Parts: sequence; C-alpha cells; structure tokens
Amino acid sequence: SVVAVIMVGGPTKGTRFRPLSLNIPKPLFPLAGQAMVHHPISACKRIPNLAQIYLIGFYEEREFALFVSSVSNELRVPVRYLKEDKPHGSAGGLYNFRDLIMEDNPSHIVLLNCDVCCSFPLPDMLEAHRRYGGMGTILVIKVSPESAYQFGELVADPVTNELLHYAEKPETFVSDRINCGVYIFTPDIFTAIQGVSTQRKDRATLRRVSSFEALQPANRSLPTDFVRLDQDILSPLAGKKQLYVYETMDFWEQIKNPGMSLKSSGLYLAQFRFTSPHLLASGDGTKKATISGDVYIHPSAKVHLTAKIGPNVSISANARIGAGVRLVSCIILDDVEIQENAVVIHAIVGWKSSIGRWSRVQASGDYNAKLGVTILGESVTVEDEVVVEQVEIMEKDQECISYITQQQAVEIDELLMGPLGFSVDQLM
Ligand code: GDD
Repeated sequence: SVVAVIMVGGPTKGTRFRPLSLNIPKPLFPLAGQAMVHHPISACKRIPNLAQIYLIGFYEEREFALFVSSVSNELRVPVRYLKEDKPHGSAGGLYNFRDLIMEDNPSHIVLLNCDVCCSFPLPDMLEAHRRYGGMGTILVIKVSPESAYQFGELVADPVTNELLHYAEKPETFVSDRINCGVYIFTPDIFTAIQGVSTQRKDRATLRRVSSFEALQPANRSLPTDFVRLDQDILSPLAGKKQLYVYETMDFWEQIKNPGMSLKSSGLYLAQFRFTSPHLLASGDGTKKATISGDVYIHPSAKVHLTAKIGPNVSISANARIGAGVRLVSCIILDDVEIQENAVVIHAIVGWKSSIGRWSRVQASGDYNAKLGVTILGESVTVEDEVVVEQVEIMEKDQECISYITQQQAVEIDELLMGPLGFSVDQLM
C-alpha cells in the first residue's frame, strides 16, 4: 500500500500570510473555493492502493478537527492530523511519526509540502519511481534562471534521471531545474533520517570533548532531532544512485504570501475545467450573473443577476454580491457583503467585510505592469464611494480609513479608462 504525508508546518511559519492567517491556519485558506491542503488531498486520492493520508504540523489539533473529518467523509479516504510537540524540520517531522506511518506497512510514502500549487501528477511519478528503483523521486520543474534561487536547485542526469547535485536556495546560480516539494520515497527514507540524527548526536558528543563546535558554526544551533529534508538528506544523497527526478511540464507555484494565493487560486480554477467542471460557475442559466472565464461560486452565496464576475474569481459561503457589482481576479471570503455597483479587482476580501456602494477595492499600479494585491482582513468596512488601494493589513473591526481621496479616485478612473490603461470592461 501507499501512505501519503502532507507537511503543513505551523503558526510561526505563517507570518508572511498575514492578515489572512490570523483566523485560520494557512493550509486551510481557500483557493478556488477549497482549502489549500484539499487540493493535494484530492490528488492523493488518485494513487492506487492508498491506505492513509496524514497531515503533520504543529498547529493545535482542534484547528484541523473539522476539516479532517469533513474531507475524510467527502473523499472517502482516511485523513488524520498529527501534531508535533515542536517543529522537527521537514524530514524530522516525518521521522517523528515513523511508527504510525509504518503501521499500514506501506511500500511507498508520498511526501508533499502543503504550500505548493501543482497538478500533483502522483500516479505517473509513482510509476517512474518504480522504474528508477531508487530510494526517492523528486518532482522538478524548469523555472526562469532569475527566479531559481528561491528554491532548491538541482542537476540530474538527462538520460537516467539520477539526481547528481542538489543546492538549497544557493547564492550563485546552479540550475534552472528546481525542487517542487513533492516526493515519493521507500521506507528507507527513515534510515536516512535516522543517520543524520545519529551523526548530529556523535558531533554533539565530540563537541563536548573538543572545541569542534567552532569549526561547524552552521550546525551549532540545530537540535539532534531537527532534520531538514533538503539540506540534510537530498544534498548529501545526490550522486549516490539513490535519488531520481521526475520533471513536470504542468503548472507549479509556491504559496508563501497572499498574492501568490490569488495566482494559485486562478491556476486551480483553470484545472477544474478538466478535473471538476461542475465546480465552475457557467452563467448559462437565465437567473445567473454574467460570468467570464473561470469562476467558483459557493452554493450558499447570493449573486445578483446584474453582477459581472470573472475571470479568476472565487466566492465563498454566504457572500452577498449586489446589483451591478464587478469582480475581477479576486477571492471573496465567507460572509462578505459587496453592495451595489462596487468594483473589486486584484484583491482578497476577508471574512465578514463589507464594501459600500460604488466603492472600488483594487491593486495599485499601472495596469500594463505587474499588479500587487490589495487585501482586506476580517470584518473590514469600506464606506460608500471610496477607492481602496494596496492596503497592507486591515484587521478585525477596523474601519478602512487609509483609502485614497475622491480626487485621486477620479484620477485613477481616468487612468483606468484612458488611452493608456484598460477599462474595467476590457479587463473582463
Ligand atoms: N510538520 C512540519 N514540521 N512541517 C514543516 C516543518 C516542521 O518542522 N518545517 C517545514 N515544514 C513544512 C512547511 O509547512 C512546508 O509545507 C514544507 O515543510 C517545506 O517548508 P520549508 O522547510 O520552510 O521549505 P521551503 O518551503 O522554503 O522550501 C522547500 O520547498 C520548496 C518547494 O516549495 C524546499 O524543499 C525547496 O527546495 C523547494 O524548492
């Protein structure tokens, strides 16, 4: 059988996700209407002989309890949350629960980072892994050379696909092939992690008897049970005929901040066209709003038929979208109210927020260049007829006061509609 493990991390890791990680753990933030971690879970379901899915993290159990029981029911696959008492690192966390994971006697362990957006081609990867015959197979993708430094860069043999060299977030360029954070291992991975941990213990003993520590400043602060998959396992095992790569030609994104979550939401919506078209709003029905591109609308949301929605819009439970509202490239969370003729472009609108009539919430900047994302946190009120641009953090019950003036709003309108910019209609 196969066991899947998804590393969900914990609260200290989610700070870049503020203010959206203030009331739910980042892995539960909705992308295309489903929790971030729901996407890899449904991908795991396609693995033949899947026995169990474990989520390992250091969030409180109660934060995942409802999600875990509902996703187990919905997908009919056993999903369990396992809490670490403290962070053990991406490999140490896995090792911490080795006895439980090995209870199902799996031949393979699928290991996934929760903060990546990807098509998760797991059955194909598993087949490739069996062919290679190694201990582990890493999903890789080609990225631009300028962006590679943010990831684990690697070099593989073009014929055998063996991993030859691995460098985690290197300062100088190594390769434009990067680690996607999606792996398949045989249970031998536990022996490899154990090895690192033992080595650390030996070094610690050595340090006590000599001044070895001064020679190893990088390792000084790491506890013996803290093991990182990339630096401590992948790097040293490269070139030893134990690790192989499988390259994906599909989409892949990392989800470290809310701006990346908006992009990922769009990628998952586009994937729904092939995997779950029933989840996409069609706009065919006579009573429906005008829909363009990929849009998700929760069944409990109320959308006025004169609203124009899309592309890349996802609307969560109990949201109310008024007459004449325009939504382009945004995530609208639970219980949000958007009143008549308001416009939301390139934004995330947090739980229970309300946007007044004729107001606009939008990203600042030139519409021809790269856009930021404007984020409203929980329970933010935007008055009627104001423009909100690139708000940093708006938290609970704050009134939105950092909006720009009516005069500036008129200028932005001119920019939007003028010869150099796009009008909202062109964006639709
Ligand atoms: N349970 C648990 N415990 N999870 C952890 C821990 C831990 O102590 N530390 C990290 N994680 C989880 C994170 O939530 C994330 O899903 C995954 O492990 C990897 O996180 P990091 O170790 O912070 O690495 P990263 O995201 O900066 O980079 C890794 O992933 C990239 C792909 O997204 C590296 O492996 C890169 O090489 C890779 O390109």
